[in-house]
Amino acid sequence: MTSLKHLALVFLAAAAVAAPDADSMKRGAAAYAKGTCIACHQANGAGLPGVFPPLAGSEWVSKDASIAVRNILHGMQGPIVVKGLNYNGAMPALGAVLSDKEIADVVTFVSNSWGNTGPNVTEDEVKAIKKKYAGRNKPWTAAEYEKEAPTKK
Ligand code: HEC
Repeated sequence: MTSLKHLALVFLAAAAVAAPDADSMKRGAAAYAKGTCIACHQANGAGLPGVFPPLAGSEWVSKDASIAVRNILHGMQGPIVVKGLNYNGAMPALGAVLSDKEIADVVTFVSNSWGNTGPNVTEDEVKAIKKKYAGRNKPWTAAEYEKEAPTKK
């Protein structure tokens, strides 16, 4: 019995760590509009098939939250497959539109909305990613992200 109780506590602790921060989610929803993500990826995260890829259920969102952060900082372009559909467009860099905190909040929002489950991204993590890629001045490509770690399809 005590071990069962202990198990329940462990599960509760894990759930508490995994749940997205409510304030961050709220600010992230606002940043999703301010950062104009909503215009392309749509309010429901479904994008426009063949034109703007979905964020809902995207294997790129679930793969690594730093992908969304880097897309926002430097843009993304070139061929990419998302949920089995081909895209070949360009996402603009939006690092000048959003603060580091807003980037953290919007990536937390995207990672934990529309059925997605992912991390709470912090402002410090965004700052660290920004620093790591400070010299970069061109958009990211799916091929580069794929080279870092293969995407589960
Ligand atoms: C002007 C349209 C546009 C805006 C604004 C935009 N994106 Fe994108 N986004 C795209 C396109 C197009 C791609 C695919 C680029 C390619 O073909 O390589 C993409 C790719 C992505 C991807 C990786 C692929 C996927 O579907 O998971 C993520 C994550 C992402 N965008 C998040 C965001 C977030 C968050 C914002 C707002 C801060 C945003 N985008 C703003 C057009 C846009």
